[in-house]
Formats: sequence, C-alpha cells, structure tokens
Amino acid sequence: MTVGQVLDASTKYLGGKGVPSPRVDAEHLVARALDLSRLDLYLQHDRALTEPELAVARELVRRRGAREPLAYVLGDWGFRRLTLLTDRRALIPRPETEIVVERCLTLLDGLDAPEVLDVGTGSGAIALAIADESPGARLTAVDVSKDALALAAENVERTGLGERVELVEHDLTTGLPGGPYDLVVSNPPYVAPEELDSLDPAVRDWEPRPALVGCGATEAIVRAAPLVLRDAAPLVLEVADGTAEAVAALLGTAGFTEVARTPDLAGRDRVVEGRWTS
Ligand SMILES: C[S@@+](CC[C@H](N)C(=O)[O-])C[C@H]1O[C@@H](n2cnc3c(N)ncnc32)[C@H](O)[C@@H]1O
Repeated sequence: MTVGQVLDASTKYLGGKGVPSPRVDAEHLVARALDLSRLDLYLQHDRALTEPELAVARELVRRRGAREPLAYVLGDWGFRRLTLLTDRRALIPRPETEIVVERCLTLLDGLDAPEVLDVGTGSGAIALAIADESPGARLTAVDVSKDALALAAENVERTGLGERVELVEHDLTTGLPGGPYDLVVSNPPYVAPEELDSLDPAVRDWEPRPALVGCGATEAIVRAAPLVLRDAAPLVLEVADGTAEAVAALLGTAGFTEVARTPDLAGRDRVVEGRWTS
C-alpha cells in the first residue's frame, strides 16, 4: 500500500470506530509509524510502505480505534514549548492548562528566583512549563500518585529542568508542604463522580480516575494555601467549566483579594486566581 492509501484506509477505519477527528489522527499515527512529519506524508503520498512500516502503522491505528487517546498512542504530546511523555500513568496536559501557566508567568513576572508550588502535578506539565519559561523560578511539584510522579520524573529528565524542579509525593488533603511560596498553582481533579459517565470514552476509560474525579480537592487547596503563601502571593486554580463563579466566591469567602477569572480560547472561564494577604 502507498502512504496515501494507508491514510485513506486508516481514516475510514477510525471514522467507523467513532473517533472524532479521524483524518487528523490518521495523519499523526501514520506519520509517527514512518517517522515523518504530517507534511512529509503528502510529499511522499505515492511511496509504498514496507511490511514492517505497515505493521507499525496498523498497530497504532488499531489502538486509536479502541479509543485510546491519541496522546497515549503517540507517547508524547506538546504542552507550551515542551514535548512531554504521555501515558496512562497521568492526565494528558490540556490546552486550557496552558492558560493556567500563562497566568502564572504573568503573576511571577519581575520576581527574582520565585518559589512556586504545583499541587497535583501529574505529568509535571505545569511545573515544567513554568520552570522552562520563567528561568529563575524554583518549583516544588507534588502528587499523591506514585505512577504520575514516575512519569513526571521522566519528563524532568527529558526536559533537563531537574535543577529547578523537585518532585514530592504528598497528599493535598493533609495540607500543603513546605513554603513560603511566591505562588501556588493547581489543576486539581474536579470531575464530580456522577459526571463520569458523560465524559468522552477516551477520557473516561483511559485517563487515571484520581486525576479526573475529585471531591473537595479545590476546597482543600483554598483552605491550605494561606498557610504556605507569602504575604500578597497568588493562588492560581484551573476549574471545571461552569464553576468559575463558585470558585471565585470560595476564594473571596476565604479572604483572598484581587480575585479574577480568565477565559479559555473558547471564552469559558477556566482559571481563577486570588492573592492571599494576611
Ligand atoms: C487534573 S490532574 C492534573 C495533572 C497536571 N497538573 C496537568 O494539569 O496536566 C490532577 C492531579 O492531581 C493528583 N491528585 C489527585 N488527588 C490528589 C491528592 N489527594 N493529593 C495530591 N495530588 C492529588 C492526581 O494524581 C493528578 O495527577
């Protein structure tokens, strides 16, 4: 089969399995199997695949057809300027979380060697992106999941940011470790258990349950953050769609000031922040 024929057949197969963007996914998977860019696929449209190449492409497409997330099948995923390893040990970093990082970078601007705590670091995405884009920042990145921390450690190694990112096993329900910090950030688990069934199967059936479902994680962070934040330092939270107003009210009630919300690219408020002034 030629590259073009494999692309067409893969697109049809993935479409038949209910994959939402079958052509784009087929391009990513066939490109990965052939170690080509997606553009190269079209430049080499008529070239025939070897049998081993075809076998690799088939296996990647089969996995995606079983609704395994594209980022897990590929094994890596772009997050801001970094390419991070992704697998079932941790949540796949999302585009809205890039906006969380953007807010943190703005709030850290002008601080010399700020200390930052990332609560529920998963793949390490937020901590690593802040370390990458805020060259003086020192990050403590905590998670309760040993699996997530193992993946984060591989990402620390891969990005070469290990001198400024420390990974710590910690359960946020017992409070927050260390401090004082110049900023605390978290994308906590925020799917309600009763909402789980309504999630896309690629999320519901593949991503780690503790990374998705969280009862009271946001509230626990809001309660604990004042004990570890420096005076006037901010807390930045990613929130579930439709909950920004409630989380902003929670911060206000807890005594945070300058409470603000930031929308994602679709215009939905997904980031809430406030400053702790003792
Ligand atoms: C929504 S994921 C966010 C992962 C990553 N920060 C990101 O934005 O891609 C939430 C993370 O919180 C972690 N987590 C869940 N419960 C926790 C707890 N009690 N203490 C610490 N981390 C927890 C999960 O293991 C998961 O890695």
